[in-house]
Amino acid sequence: MNIAETMKSEWNRRAKHHARYWVATEDFHDDRKFAKSGKNTANALLSRVAPYSNSSWSILNIGCGVGRVLKPLASHFQHLIGIDISGEMIAHSKQWLNELNNVETRETSGVDLHPFRNESFDLVYSFVAFQHMPRPVFARYLEESHRVLKIHGYLAFQIPVGVPLDTAIEDTITMRQYGTHELAEELQRCGFQLIGETHLDTNIQSSNRMEPNCGIYLAKKSGAVIRPKNTCWLQAECGQAFSLLDTRMYVWYAEQCLQAGREKEALRTYEALRQQSPDSLEKWIGTVEVLVERGKLDEAQDTLEKLTVALPTYQALNTLLEIQKPHLKSNIS
Ligand SMILES: C[S@@+](CC[C@H](N)C(=O)[O-])C[C@H]1O[C@@H](n2cnc3c(N)ncnc32)[C@H](O)[C@@H]1O
Repeated sequence: MNIAETMKSEWNRRAKHHARYWVATEDFHDDRKFAKSGKNTANALLSRVAPYSNSSWSILNIGCGVGRVLKPLASHFQHLIGIDISGEMIAHSKQWLNELNNVETRETSGVDLHPFRNESFDLVYSFVAFQHMPRPVFARYLEESHRVLKIHGYLAFQIPVGVPLDTAIEDTITMRQYGTHELAEELQRCGFQLIGETHLDTNIQSSNRMEPNCGIYLAKKSGAVIRPKNTCWLQAECGQAFSLLDTRMYVWYAEQCLQAGREKEALRTYEALRQQSPDSLEKWIGTVEVLVERGKLDEAQDTLEKLTVALPTYQALNTLLEIQKPHLKSNIS
């Protein structure tokens, strides 16, 4: 698979698991909380663009997910389009946005803004999406945003800025972090003038994945793209990666299920994780813990036997003893 195919298949997997969880990790539980998180983000964006915006604007949202932020923005602008690489996310967005007739959402390639003509939008915005993309994809979206923005159009986006951090190109979830100069230079190369940055407070998006230095950056289209980057990476084959953050997100979801008394769902999540990445320990242990807590020691034993097949070097017996220790202790006392 190339990087576009990899991003598509992985975001579809996440959206199939639980679309809202993967877009708003702490606010996915009910409609009211989810809507409030979208409103908070929309308000931050609105206050950032307020000095320049008007209600006749046409808006494009890159990586719109299920339309969390599009929904509260709909009453402020004339026409809004959301695009996302994941067809599954877009299917959910149709439900979440179904009463709005000035908002449309579409599945796209994930590496360009191909369906849209030059100079067709007043504002392009993106929130908690660029940070998950490999650097060349982000760079290409900047170039493409420049193309589809009207003269003097605006680009508003969130990105973590600090010590530059990167990861493997095939990792579609771990957050990339940009250096201040790196971001300024990239914007300049793509024909944007940075107007300013707003630091986000914890109310705007209450996910613990937010770094304190995540801001909304506002830039104005001001010149031509200088030296468009080459796109040879687009067709290159890339490997498969199941990142640590992916694992943690599933494990965290399973833990929340357990706290809410939804053990079956937790077990299903551990099972799904084991299929994705059988050589990682956390999912096996999670399953065993749940089974032991439920008194299903035979099933726990069975899972540990499967673990030793998947990971022959692992000392399953030690794990069983560790997990059973508190139960054994309470039986002894
Ligand atoms: C964490 S979610 C955030 C969704 C939305 N922006 C929000 O704030 O509710 C990231 C979204 O970006 C989308 N995405 C990831 N890579 C993408 C790409 N290369 N092009 C377009 N969308 C992408 C994912 O499918 C997912 O819906």
